[in-house]
Amino acid sequence: MVQTLAAFVGLEAGDEGKGKIVDECVISAQKQSSGKRTVVVRFQGGANAGHTIFIPKKDGTSEKFVAHVSPSGIVNNADIAIGPGVAFDPEKFIQELSEAKRLFNYSGKIMISERTGILFDYHRKLDAHMENSAKNIGTTKSGIGPFYEDNARRLTRITFYDYISANFPNKLKEVLEIKKEQLTKADILTDNYVQELIELHNKIRKELLSFSERLGYRLRDYLKNGDNIIIEGAQGTMLDVDMGTIPDVTSSHLLAPYAFASLGLSRKLFKVYGVEKTYPTRVGNGILPTLSTDGFGDIVGERAQEFGASTGRRRRVGYPDWVFVKRSVFLNDCDGIFLTRVDNVQDLNIKVCTAYKINGEIIDEVPLDLNLIREPIYLKRKFKWHLWDQEVASDPKKLAQKRADYIKKGFNSLPSELLDFIKAHDEYVGCHIVGVSIGPNRGDTILREDFYK
Ligand code: IMP
Repeated sequence: MVQTLAAFVGLEAGDEGKGKIVDECVISAQKQSSGKRTVVVRFQGGANAGHTIFIPKKDGTSEKFVAHVSPSGIVNNADIAIGPGVAFDPEKFIQELSEAKRLFNYSGKIMISERTGILFDYHRKLDAHMENSAKNIGTTKSGIGPFYEDNARRLTRITFYDYISANFPNKLKEVLEIKKEQLTKADILTDNYVQELIELHNKIRKELLSFSERLGYRLRDYLKNGDNIIIEGAQGTMLDVDMGTIPDVTSSHLLAPYAFASLGLSRKLFKVYGVEKTYPTRVGNGILPTLSTDGFGDIVGERAQEFGASTGRRRRVGYPDWVFVKRSVFLNDCDGIFLTRVDNVQDLNIKVCTAYKINGEIIDEVPLDLNLIREPIYLKRKFKWHLWDQEVASDPKKLAQKRADYIKKGFNSLPSELLDFIKAHDEYVGCHIVGVSIGPNRGDTILREDFYK
Protein backbone atom coordinates (compact mmCIF):
# COMPACT_ATOMS: atom_id res chain seq x y z
CA MET A 1 0.00 0.00 0.00
CA VAL A 2 1.55 3.28 -1.09
CA GLN A 3 0.44 6.74 0.04
CA THR A 4 0.87 9.33 -2.71
CA LEU A 5 1.65 12.85 -1.54
CA ALA A 6 2.56 14.97 -4.54
CA ALA A 7 2.29 18.50 -5.92
CA PHE A 8 2.37 19.42 -9.61
CA VAL A 9 3.22 22.91 -10.86
CA GLY A 10 3.93 24.53 -14.23
CA LEU A 11 7.51 25.50 -15.07
CA GLU A 12 6.79 27.78 -18.05
CA ALA A 13 3.90 30.11 -18.91
CA GLY A 14 1.08 27.64 -18.30
CA ASP A 15 -0.45 25.07 -20.66
CA GLU A 16 2.35 22.59 -19.97
CA GLY A 17 -0.04 19.64 -19.69
CA LYS A 18 -0.51 19.60 -15.92
CA GLY A 19 -4.10 18.34 -16.15
CA LYS A 20 -3.09 15.20 -17.99
CA ILE A 21 -0.12 14.47 -15.72
CA VAL A 22 -2.22 15.00 -12.58
CA ASP A 23 -4.91 12.74 -14.05
CA GLU A 24 -2.37 9.95 -14.53
CA CYS A 25 -0.98 10.45 -11.04
CA VAL A 26 -4.49 10.18 -9.58
CA ILE A 27 -5.15 6.95 -11.47
CA SER A 28 -1.84 5.49 -10.30
CA ALA A 29 -2.44 6.63 -6.70
CA GLN A 30 -5.91 5.08 -6.69
CA LYS A 31 -4.54 1.79 -8.03
CA GLN A 32 -1.76 1.60 -5.47
CA SER A 33 -3.93 2.25 -2.45
CA SER A 34 -7.20 0.38 -2.65
CA GLY A 35 -9.58 1.28 0.15
CA LYS A 36 -7.92 4.64 0.64
CA ARG A 37 -9.26 7.97 -0.55
CA THR A 38 -7.58 10.36 -2.96
CA VAL A 39 -8.10 14.11 -2.78
CA VAL A 40 -7.00 16.53 -5.51
CA VAL A 41 -6.50 20.10 -4.32
CA ARG A 42 -6.41 23.38 -6.27
CA PHE A 43 -4.49 26.07 -4.37
CA GLN A 44 -4.58 29.20 -6.55
CA GLY A 45 -5.95 30.81 -9.69
CA GLY A 46 -9.46 30.34 -10.96
CA ALA A 47 -11.31 29.84 -14.22
CA ASN A 48 -8.38 31.39 -16.09
CA ALA A 49 -7.01 27.84 -16.03
CA GLY A 50 -8.20 25.14 -18.39
CA HIS A 51 -6.92 21.67 -17.60
CA THR A 52 -7.67 19.47 -20.58
CA ILE A 53 -8.08 15.77 -19.96
CA PHE A 54 -8.95 13.10 -22.52
CA ILE A 55 -10.89 10.33 -20.83
CA PRO A 56 -10.83 6.96 -22.59
CA LYS A 57 -14.24 5.55 -23.56
CA LYS A 58 -15.13 1.88 -24.01
CA ASP A 59 -15.33 2.24 -27.82
CA GLY A 60 -11.65 3.25 -28.00
CA THR A 61 -12.32 6.97 -28.53
CA SER A 62 -11.94 9.52 -25.76
CA GLU A 63 -14.05 12.22 -24.15
CA LYS A 64 -12.48 15.66 -23.71
CA PHE A 65 -13.12 17.40 -20.39
CA VAL A 66 -11.74 20.81 -19.54
CA ALA A 67 -11.57 21.56 -15.81
CA HIS A 68 -11.49 25.32 -15.27
CA VAL A 69 -12.42 25.74 -11.62
CA SER A 70 -12.60 22.23 -10.28
CA PRO A 71 -9.50 20.19 -9.52
CA SER A 72 -8.99 17.74 -12.36
CA GLY A 73 -9.52 14.79 -9.99
CA ILE A 74 -13.21 15.40 -10.67
CA VAL A 75 -12.86 13.14 -13.73
CA ASN A 76 -11.51 10.27 -11.59
CA ASN A 77 -14.25 10.40 -9.00
CA ALA A 78 -11.56 11.50 -6.53
CA ASP A 79 -12.42 13.85 -3.69
CA ILE A 80 -11.71 17.46 -4.60
CA ALA A 81 -10.73 20.49 -2.54
CA ILE A 82 -10.49 24.21 -3.17
CA GLY A 83 -7.84 26.05 -1.13
CA PRO A 84 -7.98 29.54 0.37
CA GLY A 85 -5.79 31.01 -2.39
CA VAL A 86 -8.25 30.14 -5.18
CA ALA A 87 -10.42 32.66 -7.02
CA PHE A 88 -13.57 30.58 -6.67
CA ASP A 89 -16.23 31.23 -9.29
CA PRO A 90 -19.40 29.48 -8.02
CA GLU A 91 -21.30 29.96 -11.28
CA LYS A 92 -18.60 28.19 -13.27
CA PHE A 93 -18.08 25.54 -10.61
CA ILE A 94 -21.75 24.57 -10.55
CA GLN A 95 -21.72 24.18 -14.35
CA GLU A 96 -18.63 21.95 -14.24
CA LEU A 97 -19.99 19.89 -11.40
CA SER A 98 -23.25 19.18 -13.21
CA GLU A 99 -21.31 18.27 -16.35
CA ALA A 100 -19.11 15.90 -14.34
CA LYS A 101 -22.22 14.32 -12.79
CA ARG A 102 -23.78 13.89 -16.21
CA LEU A 103 -20.67 12.59 -17.96
CA PHE A 104 -19.15 10.34 -15.30
CA ASN A 105 -21.53 10.25 -12.43
CA TYR A 106 -19.23 12.22 -10.15
CA SER A 107 -19.85 11.35 -6.51
CA GLY A 108 -16.62 12.28 -4.67
CA LYS A 109 -16.44 14.46 -1.57
CA ILE A 110 -16.16 18.19 -2.25
CA MET A 111 -14.42 20.50 0.17
CA ILE A 112 -14.13 24.27 -0.11
CA SER A 113 -12.07 26.19 2.43
CA GLU A 114 -14.20 28.58 4.45
CA ARG A 115 -11.45 31.13 3.72
CA THR A 116 -11.68 30.86 -0.06
CA GLY A 117 -12.74 34.13 -1.73
CA ILE A 118 -15.72 34.30 -4.09
CA LEU A 119 -15.39 35.62 -7.62
CA PHE A 120 -18.53 37.36 -8.89
CA ASP A 121 -19.91 38.56 -12.21
CA TYR A 122 -18.64 42.09 -11.48
CA HIS A 123 -15.05 40.81 -11.26
CA ARG A 124 -15.34 39.36 -14.76
CA LYS A 125 -16.94 42.55 -16.05
CA LEU A 126 -14.28 44.74 -14.43
CA ASP A 127 -11.58 42.55 -15.97
CA ALA A 128 -13.15 42.91 -19.43
CA HIS A 129 -13.57 46.66 -18.88
CA MET A 130 -9.89 47.06 -17.99
CA GLU A 131 -8.86 44.90 -20.92
CA ASN A 132 -10.82 47.14 -23.28
CA SER A 133 -8.77 50.16 -22.28
CA ALA A 134 -5.55 51.16 -24.03
CA LYS A 135 -3.33 49.72 -21.28
CA ASN A 136 -4.06 46.00 -20.97
CA ILE A 137 -2.16 42.77 -20.48
CA GLY A 138 -4.24 40.30 -22.48
CA THR A 139 -5.95 38.53 -19.58
CA THR A 140 -8.39 35.65 -19.91
CA LYS A 141 -11.17 38.04 -18.71
CA SER A 142 -12.11 35.58 -15.98
CA GLY A 143 -12.07 38.34 -13.36
CA ILE A 144 -8.80 37.24 -11.78
CA GLY A 145 -7.09 40.63 -11.36
CA PRO A 146 -10.12 42.44 -9.88
CA PHE A 147 -10.81 39.45 -7.61
CA TYR A 148 -7.35 39.44 -6.04
CA GLU A 149 -7.49 43.24 -5.72
CA ASP A 150 -10.63 42.84 -3.66
CA ASN A 151 -9.02 40.12 -1.56
CA ALA A 152 -6.06 42.34 -0.79
CA ARG A 153 -8.33 45.28 -0.03
CA ARG A 154 -9.80 43.12 2.77
CA LEU A 155 -13.19 44.78 3.34
CA THR A 156 -14.19 43.87 -0.20
CA ARG A 157 -13.35 40.18 0.21
CA ILE A 158 -16.29 37.82 0.42
CA THR A 159 -15.13 34.50 1.80
CA PHE A 160 -16.89 31.19 1.29
CA TYR A 161 -17.86 31.47 4.96
CA ASP A 162 -19.66 34.77 4.21
CA TYR A 163 -21.10 33.32 1.04
CA ILE A 164 -22.97 30.49 2.71
CA SER A 165 -24.04 32.47 5.78
CA ALA A 166 -27.57 33.87 6.11
CA ASN A 167 -25.99 37.33 6.18
CA PHE A 168 -24.70 36.97 2.60
CA PRO A 169 -27.13 39.49 0.99
CA ASN A 170 -26.11 42.20 3.47
CA LYS A 171 -22.43 41.41 3.08
CA LEU A 172 -22.70 41.65 -0.70
CA LYS A 173 -24.59 44.96 -0.47
CA GLU A 174 -21.93 46.31 1.88
CA VAL A 175 -19.14 45.33 -0.51
CA LEU A 176 -20.91 46.74 -3.54
CA GLU A 177 -21.42 50.00 -1.66
CA ILE A 178 -17.65 50.25 -1.13
CA LYS A 179 -17.09 49.47 -4.80
CA LYS A 180 -19.94 51.68 -6.06
CA GLU A 181 -17.79 54.34 -7.69
CA GLN A 182 -15.61 51.81 -9.52
CA LEU A 183 -18.59 49.76 -10.72
CA THR A 184 -20.50 52.85 -11.84
CA LYS A 185 -17.54 54.10 -13.85
CA ALA A 186 -17.34 50.73 -15.60
CA ASP A 187 -21.09 50.86 -16.31
CA ILE A 188 -21.74 47.65 -14.43
CA LEU A 189 -24.36 48.79 -11.93
CA THR A 190 -27.85 48.65 -13.38
CA ASP A 191 -31.00 49.33 -11.31
CA ASN A 192 -31.53 45.66 -10.49
CA TYR A 193 -27.91 44.51 -10.53
CA VAL A 194 -27.55 43.85 -6.80
CA GLN A 195 -30.91 42.13 -6.45
CA GLU A 196 -30.32 39.93 -9.50
CA LEU A 197 -26.91 38.94 -8.21
CA ILE A 198 -28.36 38.03 -4.82
CA GLU A 199 -31.12 35.95 -6.41
CA LEU A 200 -28.73 34.10 -8.69
CA HIS A 201 -26.39 33.27 -5.81
CA ASN A 202 -29.17 32.33 -3.42
CA LYS A 203 -29.84 29.37 -5.71
CA ILE A 204 -26.16 28.40 -6.03
CA ARG A 205 -25.43 28.84 -2.33
CA LYS A 206 -27.96 26.20 -1.42
CA GLU A 207 -26.12 23.68 -3.58
CA LEU A 208 -22.70 24.51 -2.16
CA LEU A 209 -23.66 24.90 1.49
CA SER A 210 -22.44 21.53 2.67
CA PHE A 211 -18.96 21.85 1.13
CA SER A 212 -17.54 24.39 3.60
CA GLU A 213 -14.56 23.10 5.58
CA ARG A 214 -11.70 24.24 7.75
CA LEU A 215 -9.63 22.74 4.99
CA GLY A 216 -6.21 22.56 6.64
CA TYR A 217 -7.63 20.33 9.38
CA ARG A 218 -9.48 18.10 6.92
CA LEU A 219 -6.35 17.60 4.81
CA ARG A 220 -4.49 16.58 7.95
CA ASP A 221 -7.14 13.91 8.47
CA TYR A 222 -6.37 12.53 4.99
CA LEU A 223 -2.69 12.60 5.84
CA LYS A 224 -3.12 10.72 9.10
CA ASN A 225 -5.41 8.18 7.53
CA GLY A 226 -2.83 7.23 4.90
CA ASP A 227 -4.97 8.72 2.10
CA ASN A 228 -3.50 10.29 -1.05
CA ILE A 229 -3.20 14.06 -1.44
CA ILE A 230 -2.41 15.47 -4.87
CA ILE A 231 -1.94 19.21 -5.19
CA GLU A 232 -2.61 20.71 -8.59
CA GLY A 233 -1.14 24.03 -9.66
CA ALA A 234 -2.56 26.24 -12.39
CA GLN A 235 -0.72 28.54 -14.83
CA GLY A 236 3.09 28.45 -14.76
CA THR A 237 6.03 30.13 -13.01
CA MET A 238 6.40 32.85 -15.69
CA LEU A 239 2.95 34.08 -14.61
CA ASP A 240 3.50 34.20 -10.83
CA VAL A 241 2.39 37.55 -9.40
CA ASP A 242 5.76 38.20 -7.70
CA MET A 243 8.24 35.95 -9.48
CA GLY A 244 6.89 36.04 -13.02
CA THR A 245 7.41 38.44 -15.90
CA ILE A 246 5.84 41.49 -14.21
CA PRO A 247 3.53 43.14 -15.30
CA ASP A 248 2.45 40.43 -17.73
CA VAL A 249 1.51 37.94 -15.04
CA THR A 250 -1.60 36.58 -13.40
CA SER A 251 -2.53 37.81 -9.90
CA SER A 252 -1.98 34.70 -7.77
CA HIS A 253 0.93 33.06 -6.00
CA LEU A 254 1.43 29.89 -7.95
CA LEU A 255 4.73 28.46 -6.75
CA ALA A 256 4.66 25.15 -4.89
CA PRO A 257 5.86 26.59 -1.55
CA TYR A 258 2.70 28.70 -1.42
CA ALA A 259 0.60 25.57 -1.78
CA PHE A 260 2.03 24.15 1.43
CA ALA A 261 1.73 27.46 3.30
CA SER A 262 -1.90 27.97 2.31
CA LEU A 263 -3.01 24.38 2.81
CA GLY A 264 -1.24 23.85 6.13
CA LEU A 265 0.74 20.88 4.82
CA SER A 266 4.40 20.09 5.33
CA ARG A 267 6.64 20.35 2.26
CA LYS A 268 8.82 17.65 3.80
CA LEU A 269 6.14 15.01 3.29
CA PHE A 270 5.52 15.75 -0.38
CA LYS A 271 7.22 15.27 -3.73
CA VAL A 272 7.07 18.37 -5.90
CA TYR A 273 6.97 17.78 -9.64
CA GLY A 274 7.39 20.48 -12.27
CA VAL A 275 5.56 20.00 -15.56
CA GLU A 276 7.45 21.29 -18.58
CA LYS A 277 6.29 21.29 -22.18
CA THR A 278 9.24 20.53 -24.50
CA TYR A 279 8.76 23.99 -26.00
CA PRO A 280 7.26 26.95 -24.07
CA THR A 281 4.10 28.71 -25.24
CA ARG A 282 2.52 31.93 -24.20
CA VAL A 283 -0.88 33.58 -24.61
CA GLY A 284 -1.67 37.19 -23.77
CA ASN A 285 0.95 39.89 -23.61
CA GLY A 286 4.46 39.35 -22.33
CA ILE A 287 7.76 38.43 -23.87
CA LEU A 288 8.74 34.88 -24.73
CA PRO A 289 12.54 35.19 -24.95
CA THR A 290 12.95 32.22 -27.30
CA LEU A 291 9.95 33.03 -29.53
CA SER A 292 10.32 31.21 -32.83
CA THR A 293 10.22 33.39 -35.93
CA ASP A 294 11.66 30.80 -38.31
CA GLY A 295 8.67 28.54 -38.90
CA PHE A 296 9.34 26.07 -36.03
CA GLY A 297 6.57 27.68 -33.96
CA ASP A 298 4.06 27.62 -36.81
CA ILE A 299 4.59 23.92 -37.45
CA VAL A 300 4.45 23.01 -33.76
CA GLY A 301 1.47 25.30 -33.10
CA GLU A 302 -0.47 23.63 -35.89
CA ARG A 303 0.51 20.07 -34.96
CA ALA A 304 -0.16 20.54 -31.28
CA GLN A 305 -3.23 22.74 -31.76
CA GLU A 306 -1.77 25.38 -29.50
CA PHE A 307 -4.90 27.38 -28.70
CA GLY A 308 -5.90 28.51 -25.20
CA ALA A 309 -8.25 26.08 -23.45
CA SER A 310 -10.04 29.00 -21.72
CA THR A 311 -10.06 31.64 -24.45
CA GLY A 312 -9.29 29.89 -27.74
CA ARG A 313 -6.47 32.38 -28.42
CA ARG A 314 -3.49 31.17 -30.47
CA ARG A 315 -0.48 30.48 -28.26
CA ARG A 316 2.92 31.79 -29.34
CA VAL A 317 5.57 29.07 -29.47
CA GLY A 318 9.23 29.28 -28.46
CA TYR A 319 12.30 27.05 -28.48
CA PRO A 320 13.12 25.30 -25.19
CA ASP A 321 14.32 27.89 -22.68
CA TRP A 322 16.27 26.01 -20.04
CA VAL A 323 17.49 29.22 -18.36
CA PHE A 324 13.93 29.90 -17.37
CA VAL A 325 13.17 26.29 -16.47
CA LYS A 326 16.25 26.06 -14.23
CA ARG A 327 15.02 29.04 -12.24
CA SER A 328 11.48 27.64 -12.06
CA VAL A 329 12.90 24.41 -10.68
CA PHE A 330 14.56 26.11 -7.74
CA LEU A 331 11.69 28.52 -7.09
CA ASN A 332 9.30 25.59 -6.86
CA ASP A 333 11.83 23.33 -5.10
CA CYS A 334 11.18 20.52 -7.59
CA ASP A 335 12.07 16.89 -6.98
CA GLY A 336 11.48 15.87 -10.58
CA ILE A 337 10.14 17.03 -13.91
CA PHE A 338 7.53 15.67 -16.31
CA LEU A 339 8.38 16.55 -19.90
CA THR A 340 5.32 16.75 -22.15
CA ARG A 341 4.59 16.82 -25.88
CA VAL A 342 7.92 15.46 -27.13
CA ASP A 343 5.92 13.96 -30.00
CA ASN A 344 4.83 17.35 -31.31
CA VAL A 345 8.39 18.39 -32.15
CA GLN A 346 9.61 15.17 -33.74
CA ASP A 347 11.63 15.52 -36.96
CA LEU A 348 12.27 19.22 -36.31
CA ASN A 349 15.59 20.82 -35.47
CA ILE A 350 15.29 21.88 -31.86
CA LYS A 351 17.47 24.68 -30.53
CA VAL A 352 17.99 24.90 -26.78
CA CYS A 353 18.54 28.22 -24.99
CA THR A 354 21.06 28.02 -22.15
CA ALA A 355 21.96 31.71 -21.72
CA TYR A 356 20.83 35.22 -22.62
CA LYS A 357 22.84 38.13 -24.01
CA ILE A 358 22.15 41.19 -21.89
CA ASN A 359 24.06 44.46 -22.29
CA GLY A 360 26.79 42.64 -24.18
CA GLU A 361 27.20 40.09 -21.41
CA ILE A 362 26.23 36.43 -21.62
CA ILE A 363 24.41 35.36 -18.48
CA ASP A 364 22.31 32.41 -17.37
CA GLU A 365 19.99 34.31 -15.03
CA VAL A 366 16.47 35.56 -15.71
CA PRO A 367 16.19 39.34 -15.42
CA LEU A 368 12.97 40.98 -14.27
CA ASP A 369 12.85 43.00 -17.48
CA LEU A 370 12.88 40.54 -20.37
CA ASN A 371 13.24 43.49 -22.77
CA LEU A 372 16.90 43.52 -21.73
CA ILE A 373 17.49 40.21 -23.47
CA ARG A 374 19.08 41.08 -26.78
CA GLU A 375 19.30 37.52 -27.93
CA PRO A 376 18.90 34.04 -26.53
CA ILE A 377 22.11 32.01 -26.71
CA TYR A 378 21.50 28.50 -28.00
CA LEU A 379 23.57 25.36 -27.58
CA LYS A 380 25.64 24.58 -30.69
CA ARG A 381 24.06 21.17 -30.89
CA LYS A 382 20.54 20.98 -32.23
CA PHE A 383 18.37 18.01 -31.27
CA LYS A 384 16.10 16.09 -33.61
CA TRP A 385 14.29 12.86 -32.86
CA HIS A 386 11.95 10.58 -34.71
CA LEU A 387 9.23 8.64 -32.90
CA TRP A 388 7.04 7.34 -35.73
CA ASP A 389 6.50 7.70 -39.47
CA GLN A 390 3.79 9.78 -41.10
CA GLU A 391 1.99 6.60 -42.10
CA VAL A 392 1.68 5.71 -38.40
CA ALA A 393 0.77 9.26 -37.39
CA SER A 394 -2.15 9.35 -39.78
CA ASP A 395 -3.68 6.07 -38.56
CA PRO A 396 -5.12 6.35 -35.01
CA LYS A 397 -4.93 2.59 -34.40
CA LYS A 398 -1.32 2.28 -35.54
CA LEU A 399 -0.42 5.39 -33.56
CA ALA A 400 -1.99 4.03 -30.38
CA GLN A 401 -0.09 0.76 -30.91
CA LYS A 402 3.20 2.58 -31.46
CA ARG A 403 2.72 4.61 -28.30
CA ALA A 404 1.81 1.46 -26.37
CA ASP A 405 5.02 -0.20 -27.63
CA TYR A 406 7.17 2.64 -26.32
CA ILE A 407 5.38 2.57 -23.00
CA LYS A 408 5.78 -1.19 -22.70
CA LYS A 409 9.47 -1.11 -23.59
CA GLY A 410 10.09 1.81 -21.25
CA PHE A 411 12.20 4.92 -21.04
CA ASN A 412 15.34 3.56 -22.67
CA SER A 413 13.44 2.55 -25.81
CA LEU A 414 12.97 6.24 -26.68
CA PRO A 415 15.04 7.54 -29.63
CA SER A 416 18.66 8.12 -28.64
CA GLU A 417 18.55 11.80 -29.66
CA LEU A 418 15.63 12.33 -27.30
CA LEU A 419 17.53 10.55 -24.52
CA ASP A 420 20.51 12.85 -25.23
CA PHE A 421 18.19 15.85 -24.98
CA ILE A 422 16.94 14.58 -21.62
CA LYS A 423 20.46 13.93 -20.35
CA ALA A 424 21.59 17.44 -21.38
CA HIS A 425 18.45 18.86 -19.76
CA ASP A 426 19.04 16.96 -16.48
CA GLU A 427 22.62 18.22 -16.33
CA TYR A 428 21.83 21.84 -17.16
CA VAL A 429 18.67 22.21 -15.08
CA GLY A 430 19.94 20.17 -12.12
CA CYS A 431 16.76 18.15 -11.70
CA HIS A 432 15.79 14.85 -13.31
CA ILE A 433 13.10 14.36 -15.89
CA VAL A 434 11.09 11.57 -14.29
CA GLY A 435 8.38 11.13 -16.89
CA VAL A 436 8.03 11.77 -20.62
CA SER A 437 4.67 12.24 -22.27
CA ILE A 438 4.41 11.03 -25.86
CA GLY A 439 0.70 11.66 -26.48
CA PRO A 440 -2.38 13.48 -25.20
CA ASN A 441 -4.24 10.47 -23.84
CA ARG A 442 -4.32 8.97 -20.39
CA GLY A 443 -1.42 6.52 -20.05
CA ASP A 444 0.72 8.07 -22.80
CA THR A 445 3.44 8.92 -20.28
CA ILE A 446 6.61 6.89 -19.80
CA LEU A 447 7.92 6.90 -16.26
CA ARG A 448 11.62 6.75 -15.53
CA GLU A 449 11.23 4.31 -12.70
CA ASP A 450 14.75 4.84 -11.36
CA PHE A 451 13.93 8.47 -10.53
CA TYR A 452 10.14 8.50 -10.09
CA LYS A 453 9.25 7.30 -6.63
P1 IMP B 1 -5.42 36.45 -15.98
O1 IMP B 1 -4.87 35.37 -15.13
O2 IMP B 1 -6.69 36.06 -16.68
O3 IMP B 1 -5.55 37.75 -15.26
O4 IMP B 1 -4.37 36.72 -17.17
C1 IMP B 1 -3.07 37.24 -16.93
C2 IMP B 1 -2.05 36.60 -17.88
O5 IMP B 1 -1.92 35.24 -17.56
C3 IMP B 1 -2.48 36.64 -19.34
O6 IMP B 1 -1.31 36.77 -20.13
C4 IMP B 1 -3.10 35.27 -19.57
O7 IMP B 1 -3.05 34.89 -20.92
C5 IMP B 1 -2.21 34.41 -18.70
N1 IMP B 1 -2.87 33.21 -18.20
C6 IMP B 1 -3.75 33.10 -17.18
N2 IMP B 1 -4.11 31.83 -16.98
C7 IMP B 1 -3.45 31.10 -17.88
C8 IMP B 1 -3.39 29.69 -18.14
O8 IMP B 1 -4.01 28.85 -17.49
N3 IMP B 1 -2.56 29.33 -19.16
C9 IMP B 1 -1.82 30.22 -19.87
N4 IMP B 1 -1.84 31.52 -19.65
C10 IMP B 1 -2.65 31.97 -18.66
